[in-house]
Amino acid sequence: MAQPEPSALVESLRAFGYSLRTAVADLVDNSISARAKNVWIRFEWDGAQSFISIRDDGSGMTENELVTAMRPGSKSPLEDREPRDLGRFGLGLKTASFSQCRRMSVISKTETSTSAARCWDLDYINTAGEWRLLKKVNQDRLTEVGEQIAQQGTIVLWEEMDRVTGSTRADDKKAYNRFLEAIEEVKEHLEMVFHRYLEKRGGINIFINGRKIEGWNPFLKGEKATQELPSEKLFCKGAQLSVTPYVLPHLSKLTQDTHRAASGPQGWNAQQGFYIYRNERLLVPGDWLGLGFQKEEHHKLARIQIDLPNNMDDEWQIDVKKSRARPPGYLRGDLKRIAKLTREQAVQVYRHRGKVIARRSSQDHVFLWQQKTRHGKYFYEINREHPLIQSSLREIGADKIEPILRLLEETIPASHIIITSSEEPDRMGSPLEGAKYVEVRALLQKIYSSFQKSGFSRDEIFDRLVTMEPFSQTPEFIEAFREEPEGGI
Ligand SMILES: Nc1ncnc2c1ncn2[C@@H]1O[C@H](COP(=O)(O)OP(=O)(O)OP(=O)(O)O)[C@@H](O)[C@H]1O
Ligand SMILES: [Mg+2]
Repeated sequence: MAQPEPSALVESLRAFGYSLRTAVADLVDNSISARAKNVWIRFEWDGAQSFISIRDDGSGMTENELVTAMRPGSKSPLEDREPRDLGRFGLGLKTASFSQCRRMSVISKTETSTSAARCWDLDYINTAGEWRLLKKVNQDRLTEVGEQIAQQGTIVLWEEMDRVTGSTRADDKKAYNRFLEAIEEVKEHLEMVFHRYLEKRGGINIFINGRKIEGWNPFLKGEKATQELPSEKLFCKGAQLSVTPYVLPHLSKLTQDTHRAASGPQGWNAQQGFYIYRNERLLVPGDWLGLGFQKEEHHKLARIQIDLPNNMDDEWQIDVKKSRARPPGYLRGDLKRIAKLTREQAVQVYRHRGKVIARRSSQDHVFLWQQKTRHGKYFYEINREHPLIQSSLREIGADKIEPILRLLEETIPASHIIITSSEEPDRMGSPLEGAKYVEVRALLQKIYSSFQKSGFSRDEIFDRLVTMEPFSQTPEFIEAFREEPEGGI
């Protein structure tokens, strides 16, 4: 029989690209599939001897089941799974664990069986050159800190965490702080990924070092100003999946705390797009799924929920880490349409807001082009007082800019414009139509800095921007710019 070379296989099992947070989430998946009500996660700091344990009160495993579970590929991905099962590949327990540690032990007990324990030690495998599942597990370390199974459940223990703590000393303050930060990241990730389980009655409780975590809901359903757009059913492999778009409220409609919390672990801009759930477990926290849209500031209020059952895994290319999903080609058209609609609705929030502010502005409108009469004839001139022109005149010099301005003024294709707009009025684009935020942002930033140099305050500058051509036509860009953390700074 051709056995895989153990040390080579170990290294490839370690290289699935998990982060600590996705690895922990993968184990929580297993606990949920085992019908756990509670999951207790412990991060124990002790330099290189630090460990992480994940304990649940799910159905547990008998000794035989445990031995099977420890094998990579313990179940075929082709097998049908119970509708609530979060697994697919028979790999997660092993790949997630080995991505973080060199020794992984599992202790498990069902209601009727006695407790069983097994351990994979990568150093042992490497030196002995054989895949031997060890029976010896450091249970004392767990009992010392009060981690033990009562009636039924499972504990996974990660030791020798070369990827988390490495060979640091226990008194290394910096390493300890990194460890604390890692805990915080895991917490935020679990709050997001499992929010539906954490929120619902009869769901689960997750504790990190004894503290219960709360679900993070991306859709702010409790807020009055949240818009839930009509849900749609799409068909995939003869089964239904549902898509529900949300447009979140503008920040002026939220308390500061709610707005900050709603931004999510990656921040407002990054967390726009589709949220793909599989059995209520979040796989993709905001992504436009390669449908041709970009994450732009003025679309960041758009978040769209997609619910998948677990029998479409193949169609959606679900990966072992449960952090990727790609829609099948035949659904792309529908998803694109829904995305477009939601994005437009989300932009409206900013447009509306911008218009309200523009009406309140004490400034007169500033146009770029002005109509003038000379000898009874009409001419069009570029307004030299327009701040963009002003700053160019100052920076580049009137002698260089003036000839260009004159040239533009003298050669306006007025007759073309007249003909096109009378023959095909619908095909006349409006200012900044279809422009990308990044392009407009560059202009906004330029004017902002130039006003700032002239001593204007932030409020005064925005007051002017909203009444200034061409930005007055796209108030959504101005409002998005205003909200950027570094916007206009
Ligand atoms: N906490 C647990 N409680 C009970 N059984 C578990 C637990 N964790 C794992 N198992 C058992 O071990 C098996 C292997 O788990 P593993 O995570 O490797 O694969 P999976 O969950 O089947 O699929 P995937 O690779 O998609 O996660 C599971 O199918 C389950 O039967
Ligand atoms: Mg699993």
